[in-house]
Amino acid sequence: MIVYLEKTRTFYLQGKHVSYIFAVDAYGHLRHLYFGEQLAVGEDLSFCFRDEDKGFSGNFDGAKDRTASLDTAFLEFPSAGMGDYRRPALLVMTQDGARQTDLRFSSFAVHREKVPPEGLPHVRGGETLEVMLRDDMYGLELSLFYTVFDDQDAVVRSAKLVNRSGGDLRVQKISSFSLDFPDASYDTVCLYGRPCCERMPVREACGPGIREFSSALRGSSSHYLNPFFALVRRETDENAGDAYGFALVYSGAFSLSAEMTSYGTLRVQGGISDCDFSWLLKDGQSFRTPEAALVFSCGGLGGMSRAFHALWREKLLPSRFSGKPRPVVVNSWEAAYFDFNAQKLFALIDAAAETGADTFVLDDGWFEFRNNDCGGLGDWSADRTKLPGGLEEISAHCRERGLAFGLWFEPEMVSEDSRLYREHPDWCLKNPRRGPVRGRAQLVLDFCNPEVVATVYDKMARVIESSGATYVKWDMNRYLADLYAPSLPPERQQEVQHRYVLGVYSLAERLTQRFPDLFMEGCSGGGGRFDAGMLFYFPQIWTSDNTDASERAEIQYGTSLCYPPVAMSAHVSACPNHLTGRTTPLASRYSVASLCAFGYELDLCALSREERAALARQVAAYREIEPLVQGGELYRLAQMCRDGLYAAALVSHDKTHAYVAGITGQTNANVLQKRLKICGLDDARRYRVRETGTVASGRALRTMGLLLPPLRSDFMPVELHLEAEPEKA
Ligand code: DGJ
Repeated sequence: MIVYLEKTRTFYLQGKHVSYIFAVDAYGHLRHLYFGEQLAVGEDLSFCFRDEDKGFSGNFDGAKDRTASLDTAFLEFPSAGMGDYRRPALLVMTQDGARQTDLRFSSFAVHREKVPPEGLPHVRGGETLEVMLRDDMYGLELSLFYTVFDDQDAVVRSAKLVNRSGGDLRVQKISSFSLDFPDASYDTVCLYGRPCCERMPVREACGPGIREFSSALRGSSSHYLNPFFALVRRETDENAGDAYGFALVYSGAFSLSAEMTSYGTLRVQGGISDCDFSWLLKDGQSFRTPEAALVFSCGGLGGMSRAFHALWREKLLPSRFSGKPRPVVVNSWEAAYFDFNAQKLFALIDAAAETGADTFVLDDGWFEFRNNDCGGLGDWSADRTKLPGGLEEISAHCRERGLAFGLWFEPEMVSEDSRLYREHPDWCLKNPRRGPVRGRAQLVLDFCNPEVVATVYDKMARVIESSGATYVKWDMNRYLADLYAPSLPPERQQEVQHRYVLGVYSLAERLTQRFPDLFMEGCSGGGGRFDAGMLFYFPQIWTSDNTDASERAEIQYGTSLCYPPVAMSAHVSACPNHLTGRTTPLASRYSVASLCAFGYELDLCALSREERAALARQVAAYREIEPLVQGGELYRLAQMCRDGLYAAALVSHDKTHAYVAGITGQTNANVLQKRLKICGLDDARRYRVRETGTVASGRALRTMGLLLPPLRSDFMPVELHLEAEPEKA
């Protein structure tokens, strides 16, 4: 619900349990008043704001007295050069070289139907408030968009700048949102990592200065820091306390920051990274930022995560797949890498069919000149030496065995020994005066160039159509480096990182339009581009190349801070694990992977008869709990690095049943049995635990917990099914 009260010139944005409130002050500045637990519409918050004269805090143009300073004000979208020394959300250089913008309120509109931002992924539905501000001196118009939902604890923000100056402008920074908090007694929780170790939660207290989480210069959201962070009170834990979360619906170089000011207040901001960014905006043109989702929960980090999960599941993930069972996949990568031929694939497909899986995905290595990772990218024609009957034969074999066929692509890349590169050496990102910067022996295509995107689209569409693939795994195995697009003039080279991502989105959009039923899985050297931007096109993303059950547990834990289990793909792989050399029981590998979009990634033909039978039982067991993965509420119960055990519960919305799964850590001699407290159940109801026969109330399971079986060896599976006992009439 969006309400504007003329008397106090205040906007009230009401979500399910949250309020976001701001007002227009006497000067036309947008003053942020509040974001958090729901307050009543009409609540006048002016009592807790007082402007004071602070030395060295300048007074803006037109200020009536020395107390009128933007430096200490709580602002909705601060701009540069008017005496606010915190980071601006907007920095624009006008034709005369000035970088001072003074935007004042002009009007507002409420859109009952969302006008989607063109070419950008976005959250669907809700009601949108558009607040227009103007700088008449320079002919700038800024629209701030706020979308709220009756059924979500989130506000989605973005901004649009229009140049009506009569000349060119250079946008040097434009955030998706900015938010000022009255105090800085918070911790930040970011998701930090590297390939094979993505999204490790790191919690640190806010302190003076700016803490920035950014993937700048990589051109991708990256393994390094995820475009998400949380802001929590010092006492906030998993289940209680205030928790704010900020996530960008964006897959390129981003920046999120928390800045503690001289006066102990906190400014939080986020959007496209301004490092090596500028955008030439011609007269009459507009620039639209990506969206940012802001959520709040007083139910701790767990509550914040569930708010994000609901938002992404219900308003972001491609709706045509929601409610439909996720395909159980058998992927060829760790089964065969580049070393396969048609016979080997037939055998793998036959074994996959025996398990009861739905889809066979042929990973890297199916196209010409691809016997290792040094070449072959860009042409996308099947290697007839390995596959004499082409992809058609593999796909037909899948169909005969009742499986759908999936195919791996790396659309954004080219190898130098490809026909594509030989014909168009200027179609990749590289400084024409230097040698290219290679990564995994490959170059990045210039996706700023629509002709390149159109060519890749044609090639992919042809292969998808002829092979009958209904599933595509879209990989990206390096970051951008030489940020120079031959298709752009010199004055637009700082647009490369953003234009590149727009090109990626346009390809995903075109494929979706052409193949509405095509299921696309995102991937980037594991989970290097796991973000809400990608999830708009891809219902799930490969979480990490690290399939070691014990390490994967930590990665899934971190990823789930922002992203729902159904968006995280997880596979059972072989042991000893190919990366860590660790051996974990098959049942534990299943238990960890079963909390996500599930599949296998190992040579099924090398398994014993008993192991194959166990796989078939796992697939059947997964089918039972899959609806909980799709739409259940996630409660994190234990974290490997903190508790020596990983466990999470997926609880049905009506709290009648739950699935608890995970893995224990390394065992020690002579220790007591571990106790696992199970949250998320109905305190007042009694639950039967299928595996132990225990019957206990939700309250007892939450407060006392269940005893896990004695730890007789390392990495034991945790797997419990809970059913509520029928309620007495
Ligand atoms: C990286 C991915 O994460 C893997 O799953 C696999 O697809 C390889 N690329 C193929 O090169």
